[in-house]
Amino acid sequence: MALFRLPSSVPLALEPRGSGLLLRAPVMSDFPQWAQLRDRSRAYLTPWEPIWPSDDLTRTGFRRRLRRYAEDIVNDRAYPFLIFREADGALLGGITLANVRRGIVQAGTIGYWVGEPFAGQGCMTSALQVLLPALFGELSLHRVEAACIPTNLGSVRVLEKSGFTREGLARRYLCINGVWQDHLLFGMLHEDFHG
Ligand SMILES: CC(C)(COP(=O)(O)OP(=O)(O)OC[C@H]1O[C@@H](n2cnc3c(N)ncnc32)[C@H](O)[C@@H]1OP(=O)(O)O)[C@@H](O)C(=O)NCCC(=O)NCCS
Repeated sequence: MALFRLPSSVPLALEPRGSGLLLRAPVMSDFPQWAQLRDRSRAYLTPWEPIWPSDDLTRTGFRRRLRRYAEDIVNDRAYPFLIFREADGALLGGITLANVRRGIVQAGTIGYWVGEPFAGQGCMTSALQVLLPALFGELSLHRVEAACIPTNLGSVRVLEKSGFTREGLARRYLCINGVWQDHLLFGMLHEDFHG
């Protein structure tokens, strides 16, 4: 008998909310708001992200993205979330739980972004506090991981404020903005989380 199994029913509509935020998977009607926010935040985001495909901000690119997301969710591989302000439905940013590993690992890796107009207002710290209970709860993770470039002081701060532990440095770990870059590795165990 397997000691570790997939959650008995993988929730397809995981929509955690709290602190005035709603997190949910993107849908096609999010495209105009998403493309506009990503476009106006391009210079702010691109130093910290993989190179954007040339058609990333087009409707076709977004549709392809949603198809990939749907496959990932159904196969319990990744869970993308957009972050909305509940009061007015404004899109603020996004968090993706990727690289979900089951079996004896039960871990996944978060990546995140905030639109430039909303940066530095506590948005990502609040969004993680809303999401983490769902990752350790509904998705039954034992461990959540994150990695960031050492000079990304805002991201380091968010992870430390949120209770992640700095675990090491991985050399030339991810290809960010076209360059293989060293990353600080962070982790949080279920028992570390005191939501
Ligand atoms: C990293 C990012 C997601 C943070 O989101 P955010 O909503 O601005 O984060 P918060 O407001 O919750 O917290 C930011 C914290 O970092 C601090 N900070 C921001 N820039 C900083 C800097 N250059 N040096 C030191 N601290 C900094 C803020 O002061 C704040 O800490 P405080 O509450 O103690 O004052 C956002 O800046 C972003 O999207 N950056 C570009 C993309 C990116 O880096 N993605 C992550 C890749 S690992």
